[in-house]
Amino acid sequence: MSEKLEKLIKAKEDIKLGGGEKRIKKQHESGKLTARERIGLLLDEGSFIEVDQFVKHRCTNFGMEEVETPGEGVVTGYGTVDGRLIFVYAQDFTVLGGSLGEKHASKIWKIQDMAMKMGAPIVGFNDSGGARIQEGVDALSGYGGIFYRNTLASGVIPQISVIMGPCAGGAVYSPALTDFIFMVDKTSMMFITGPQVIKTVTGEEVSQEELGGAVTHNKISGVAQFVDNNEEECIKRVRKLLSYLPSNNLEDAPIYESEDDINRIEERLNEIVPDNPNKPYDMKEIISLVADDGEFFEVQPYFAQNILIGFIRLNGASIGVIANQPKFAAGCLDINASDKAARFIRTCDAYNIPILNLVDVPGFLPGTDQEYGGIIRHGAKMLYAYSEATVPKVTLIVRKAYGGAYLAMCSKDLGADQVFAWPNAEIAVMGPDGAANIIFKKDIKNSQDPLETRTEKIKEYRDTVANPYIAASRGYVDDVIVPSTTRQRLVSAFDMLQSKRENRPAKKHGNMPL
Ligand code: HXC
Repeated sequence: MSEKLEKLIKAKEDIKLGGGEKRIKKQHESGKLTARERIGLLLDEGSFIEVDQFVKHRCTNFGMEEVETPGEGVVTGYGTVDGRLIFVYAQDFTVLGGSLGEKHASKIWKIQDMAMKMGAPIVGFNDSGGARIQEGVDALSGYGGIFYRNTLASGVIPQISVIMGPCAGGAVYSPALTDFIFMVDKTSMMFITGPQVIKTVTGEEVSQEELGGAVTHNKISGVAQFVDNNEEECIKRVRKLLSYLPSNNLEDAPIYESEDDINRIEERLNEIVPDNPNKPYDMKEIISLVADDGEFFEVQPYFAQNILIGFIRLNGASIGVIANQPKFAAGCLDINASDKAARFIRTCDAYNIPILNLVDVPGFLPGTDQEYGGIIRHGAKMLYAYSEATVPKVTLIVRKAYGGAYLAMCSKDLGADQVFAWPNAEIAVMGPDGAANIIFKKDIKNSQDPLETRTEKIKEYRDTVANPYIAASRGYVDDVIVPSTTRQRLVSAFDMLQSKRENRPAKKHGNMPL
């Protein structure tokens, strides 16, 4: 028995070493942790239970029968984060570059299936040279099965992808199918075709970092939601994100008790919005002033900065926030902002997270770029996502709410359960400048002093129409509130909405504009 025991212990130790000391050293030297170190940082100490340690490849092409791949290049299992069950896989770059073959994939499939059955989130660490070239179509099939499971799990359990090395070719599509993508600056990269292929095909020269680095995907493409300077910080952020999410679509996110007074009055809110409607301010300050303990967990902070998305807690409960940011492009809605918001609205709805909308929007961004780029179909995603969402929806109009953008930020008609406005809110078909030009065109043209008349007419329009009281008199706004009492009013609204039930007609699925 002792001999068999020793053999077992030795085998497990060997597997734990992955590709060996030399390759581990190389991994560390390139600023990366090993697969096991990553899992260790993610999960509560000592909670990791490994599955499928002994799985081996069965490829015999190109001398592969002689090649040992400890753990098959991916460490899989489960454990807890803040005491809650989480499934995890981490590709091991020290074993054949973390390349994905048939059995490597089958280990990931098993963990995906288990996460689905148990209704628990799954976190995948991606660090791989892609499809294991020696295995050919078996490797491709491996990816196909992962994509298929990603799609089945979408909207059932939270799926988080953490890119901590290369993730290239078709391999990028598993992360793309999950709910959130984390990247690490300088060490992670994602692209469909690498710099060499691009050079051959188009002649364009671009570095790996420029093409598919963390900054590129967080700022320009919007593929990733988070970037951190190192892996430790990144993993801490993954743990934090999990705290805002439920384990699955049949549960609510956990409640975290807070000492913060739910009746806290914030005088600063009475003066935060400048009197001059064209002057920007920082919407993030409003979010922090109403949130429990001033905490705003921002998602996708570097992409489409004219709209803010992220999580706060109100009276301990997780709330998704969508807010126009007047500091960027005056808070206009454009293609990227619409995509960013619509996806987040659907994420919140899928996982039973109530939605708070903070509105200060002058309209959709005008321009041929926007029209040719399809702002019509992109903007429609927001209308669709809000109308489709059945979670509690509360809208607060902070300042401007004009035209289609008023509707697109979740007006009463798109199913907002409660709509509040601050007294300086302006709700109308279009901004006073544009409106005056159209309806007072003749008065301005025929006037002795067209400039003076135009200024007067703009003021007349603003005074008559652009206020919250007409909307309130029709019931589109439920109440005009004192800004300093906002936290209290939001907490009580979401509290009232806790038991909300809303059904939709049965259908296979809708046909969301894409
Ligand atoms: C088999 C691979 C591999 C792969 C790397 N390795 N990628 N083995 N299949 N795809 C092995 C290397 O042979 C090497 O083995 C070890 O992993 C480490 O690789 P290095 O090249 O030494 O590391 P590094 O210099 O850091 O470069 C990493 C890399 C490079 C940029 C990822 O290895 C690379 O370009 N790999 C190929 C990438 C690729 O084209 N993949 C196919 C993509 S297409 P030893 O034994 O020397 O340590 C794809 C299709 C998916 O994935 C489609 C899904 C639908």
